[in-house]
This record gives sequence, structure tokens and C-alpha cells, in this order.
Amino acid sequence: MKGRTSGLIGICSLILSVVFLSRNITGYSIANLTQTSLNFAGIVFFLVGLLCSFIYMKSPYLLLKRDNANLHNISQVDIKKFVDIADIKKGMYILDAMCGKSEIGQEIEKIDGVKLYLSDNAKFQLDEAKKVIKNAKFFTASVLDMPFKNNYFDRVFIKSGVYEVPKKNQVKLYKEVLRVLKPKGLFLNWTFLLNKNNQKFFQDIVRNKDKSAGFEDLFKNRYFMTKDEVYEDIKKAGFRNIKFYDLNIYYTLSTKKWCEVDFQGDKAKKVKLGNFIMEQIGGKDIIGMEVIIEKGDIKLKIPALISIAIK
Ligand SMILES: C[S@@+](CC[C@H](N)C(=O)[O-])C[C@H]1O[C@@H](n2cnc3c(N)ncnc32)[C@H](O)[C@@H]1O
Repeated sequence: MKGRTSGLIGICSLILSVVFLSRNITGYSIANLTQTSLNFAGIVFFLVGLLCSFIYMKSPYLLLKRDNANLHNISQVDIKKFVDIADIKKGMYILDAMCGKSEIGQEIEKIDGVKLYLSDNAKFQLDEAKKVIKNAKFFTASVLDMPFKNNYFDRVFIKSGVYEVPKKNQVKLYKEVLRVLKPKGLFLNWTFLLNKNNQKFFQDIVRNKDKSAGFEDLFKNRYFMTKDEVYEDIKKAGFRNIKFYDLNIYYTLSTKKWCEVDFQGDKAKKVKLGNFIMEQIGGKDIIGMEVIIEKGDIKLKIPALISIAIK
């Protein structure tokens, strides 16, 4: 169930439970139901309400103040390097899709005369973005079905977003980006640089972390693509001239940061995750990423994969 749907059902169920259980509201008569039936219905609505509220709160992007730049150790200089390769000109229509708290959007806003749009399916994230960006339009929407006309944008950016949707939907995502781009428009994508040898290692660690943090949606949906998969899927969607850029940008993930942010300080979870990582490493070198083992922290340093594709 999607975060927003579960939130809505949760609130409605809790309101209905109050209606059914309150003698003052119903006088114990709704549609000739007996008092026992009313109480039973009230309790059922209460339990459904609790369950849906619980599911809603399990979606980290809806409630946690998750700061990806901090979690991923990405600097403002890195963000600027990414935005700079887009060759943005005055008057262009630019979309920061899956914008989160708008790190990319904030850098784009500095460019004179751009028409900036931000979209994300989590209202909470957009509300955070609205606090720091003044000159933009904001849309709460799925990246798989965006509320924009065909051929609307000159540039679409997605940073650390594509891997949030299941593998089966990733070509669909690229097709949706293609649809909203103008002919010759550019799609700028930023994700982890993974290969056949380290994809499973990385995916297993992140899934273990998501499961332990209680992020059921992320645990089920996330798929971290290899570089070859990124290329093949963007091409399959209909883009041409797909190019990769080495901007010397690295994600640094760390069990210490995951503990602070995703485990909300629960050190036992950090230790468990650290043990899991050490088991996965099993004394081998992990090709394509650096594993830094420090006292009380394990860091994974992984290059960012930056691509530009033309419609
Ligand atoms: C890892 S965060 C990255 C945010 C931001 N681009 C950054 O780099 O800091 C992924 C974002 O994608 C959003 N998201 C996940 N699935 C989505 C979907 N199907 N449609 C739109 N946004 C989605 C989440 O709400 C979250 O804000």
C-alpha cells in the first residue's frame, strides 16, 4: 500500500471508530445495528486505523527528516559540478524530479531566468523544499505518471532517485522522462556506479539496513542498477547519445550515519549491520568500491554514475 493511501485510510478508519464507539454521536443506532454490532465495527475500524497509520509511518520519506546529502556525504561542490554539465540557459524549463529536499533544485535556482519545477511523491519532502526554494513550482506526483504536458522541459534531473522504483518500472520511469522532455532535451541522471561483481554485495547491505530500520517499502522496492543496466534501460526507453561523465564524485555511506539517521541512534542495529557487512566481505576485495573499516564505523566509498541522454 502506498504511503499516502495508507495515511488516508488510517485517518478515516480512526474517525469511523470514534463514530461507531461513541454513544454521544450515534446514540447507539446506525442502520438498525445492535449495540454489540456497533461496538464490533468500531473496534474493527480502530484496528484498521492503527495498522494503516503504522504502515504510513514506516515510509521514511514521509516522516523522517532524511537528509540525503548528509547521509551520502555529497558536497555542494559535487552538486554544482552535476548542474554545470547541463549547460542551462536563461528561459529554460527545468525539472528536478524525485527532488527530495531539493539539493539539485537549490543549485538550479541560482541560475538567472530559469523556470524551475520540482516534483516528488512525498509531500513531506516537498514541504521541506518549499522552505528553501522560493522561485519554483512544486508537484506532489509519482515520477511514473507526472502531471506535465508532452515536450515541456529542456532538462530533467534525477539524483539518487531511479533506484527507488522497482526494476520492472525503471524503463517506464525513463519513458515518462522522455515524454515530458522537449526534442533534443537532456536527461541528467545520477546514481551509484555498480557492476556485475559488486551489485549484489551492495544491494544486500542496503536491503539489510532498510529491513532493520523498518523501511518495508524501500526493502521491497529498491533496485540498484549496474552501469550496463542504466545504459540498456535508458536506450530501451528511446533516448539516444547516452554518455557517462566522470566528475570524480563519490558517495560515502557509513554504518555510523545510518545509525544516527535511519536507526535513530539504535546502536544494537548498527553493530548487527556491521557484522552483516563483515560477513558479506568475507576477507575479499570488493572490486569497484572502497571499504574503510574504522573503529566503530564501516564506510563504503562508491563512485557516482553520472549520465546525460538526449531525447
Ligand atoms: C534518495 S531520495 C533523493 C532525493 C534527492 N533527489 C537527493 O538526491 O537528495 C529519493 C526521493 O525519491 C522520492 N520518490 C521515491 N519514489 C518515488 C516515485 N515513485 N515518484 C516520485 N518520487 C519518488 C522519495 O520521496 C525521495 O524524496
